[in-house]
Amino acid sequence: MSGELSPIDKAKFVAAKRSTDFVEDGMRVGLGTGSTAAWMVRCLGELVREDGLKIRGVPTSTRTAELAREVGIEVVSLDEAKWLDVTIDGADEFDGNLNLIKGGGGALLQEKIVATASDQMVVIADIGKEVENLGAFPLPVEVIPFGWQTTKSLIEELLVSMDVLGRDATLRMNGDHPFVTDEGNYILDLHLGRIGNPHQMAMVLNQMPGVVENGLFIDICDVVILGYGDGKVETRDINQGTVEEERLDFVESDNLFTDLQE
Ligand code: 5RP
Repeated sequence: MSGELSPIDKAKFVAAKRSTDFVEDGMRVGLGTGSTAAWMVRCLGELVREDGLKIRGVPTSTRTAELAREVGIEVVSLDEAKWLDVTIDGADEFDGNLNLIKGGGGALLQEKIVATASDQMVVIADIGKEVENLGAFPLPVEVIPFGWQTTKSLIEELLVSMDVLGRDATLRMNGDHPFVTDEGNYILDLHLGRIGNPHQMAMVLNQMPGVVENGLFIDICDVVILGYGDGKVETRDINQGTVEEERLDFVESDNLFTDLQE
């Protein structure tokens, strides 16, 4: 079955697999959203089913909640868990300071709340997500539907005074309709090209009425696990200042792949 996976999927898988080393019996674990995070949920599910790992998972979207239940992970709400030992999630971009752009999957609000309520945030990614400067990936901003066009115009105006290359904002669509988040909000994608000052951008955007949250994760991520298509995995810990390299065997497991319909 693994032979059918593309190098990018193998990279995501090995990063996800390595991230399970951060999870121990009894932990409360934030479960991210996206294709890389889905691998991690499957890997944890296998450990729960086959090795008796006991964890409680707090999902960051309805689709992650569904997958987690499907693979056998006990799902609880953030308020039930209160605080998390670790959150493991993907990212759309990360820079040398492990600052991130997230929200490509539209789950940035829950993802940021859950990651912020965790002792540690571990990001799992393939090499394509590493950038020198954040901003090539359009920055998702969650806005309330009321007056969204006005909010969009105000954001575009605000961007004139910011250190960015582009200033267009587009409403994310789902077919003919606006994409709607789990909280019933819309997403504006900001095509900035390059964000000169991500800290400032994150703060200024959140001061705008109508903006619920933005996809910049500043000083939240502790560890990035970078997967490669040949099984190499690099673990960078920003607090310890360490970089570890290893190679994971790509073990075929029918259990892991049976739910691969997405
Ligand atoms: C969802 C996210 C995802 O983590 C991000 O889009 C990366 O997704 P993938 O692992 O599929 O590349 O932020 O809101």
